[in-house]
Amino acid sequence: MRDKGIIKVFPDTESLAEHAAECLIKKINKNFSNQSFSIALSGGTTPKKIFSCIASKYSEKINWHKLKVFFGDERCVHPSSDDSNYKMADETLFKLVSIPKKNIFRIKGENKPSYEASRYSKIVAENLPLKDGLPQFDVVMLGLGDDGHVASIFPNQLEIFNSNKIYETAVHPSTGQKRISITGKIINNAKLVVFIVTGEGKSKILYEILTLTPHNVSYPASFVNPTGGELIWLLDAEASKLLNNKISIQKIF
Ligand code: 6PG
Repeated sequence: MRDKGIIKVFPDTESLAEHAAECLIKKINKNFSNQSFSIALSGGTTPKKIFSCIASKYSEKINWHKLKVFFGDERCVHPSSDDSNYKMADETLFKLVSIPKKNIFRIKGENKPSYEASRYSKIVAENLPLKDGLPQFDVVMLGLGDDGHVASIFPNQLEIFNSNKIYETAVHPSTGQKRISITGKIINNAKLVVFIVTGEGKSKILYEILTLTPHNVSYPASFVNPTGGELIWLLDAEASKLLNNKISIQKIF
C-alpha cells in the first residue's frame, strides 16, 4: 500500500501559503551546513499566491543566498511569454526578493527541447548532491493537474515518469505544447515532495488519487512516493471537499 504522506487542509490559499512559507523557512534555516538548499518550483497558476505571500511577508526571513531555485518543468516558450513558468516566478517572487541571479536555474524554454532537457539535466546533476546515484533535491514542489499529471508528465506518458534521465522532453496531450519536465525518479529521490493543490476543480482527482486503491495507473501523480523522503499534501478546503474519513487529514483551521 503506497504511503499517502501527510495531508494538511487549510481554510484558504492564504493560510496554506503562509504555512508553506514557514515550513520552507524552517527547513532552509535549519540546514546549518554551508551546503545550499535546493528547491524545484512547480509551474501553473497555484504557486502564484504562494510566491506572492513569500515575497510580501517572508522575504526578510529567508536566507536567499543559501537557496538554489530550479524548476520542475517549463513550457517550451520564450521567458517573456505569459505561458512561461519562469516568467510567473520572476514576476511574483524573484523580482521582489534578494535572491542572487546566480541562484536561479532557469529552464531555457526557448532552446531546442531535446538539447535543453539534456543541458538542464547536467546543470541539476552538477548542483545537487547525489543519493543512490541520482541528484537529490531538498524540496520538490508539485501542483496537480485535474487529469492527474504532475510537472509535465501527463497521463499515459509514464515512460517519462520512469525515465532514467533527470529531465525529459514532453508534449501536452491536448495543446501539443512541448515541455521540459523532471522525471519521476528524481521526484521520488527528493528529501521532501510537497503537493500544493487548491480549488474545487481539483477535488475529484484528489479524491481518486488519495482514497481509491488500486489507483488509476494512468495518473502520474499516483506514482509520486518519495523513497526515504517525506510526502506532504497542502490542500485548501475546496480541493479537499470530497476526501472522507477513510484517510487521516490534519485540519489546520
Ligand atoms: C505546469 C505545471 C503543472 C501544474 C498543474 C496544476 O507547468 O503547468 O507544472 O504540473 O502544476 O497543471 O496547474 P494549476 O496550478 O494551474 O492548477
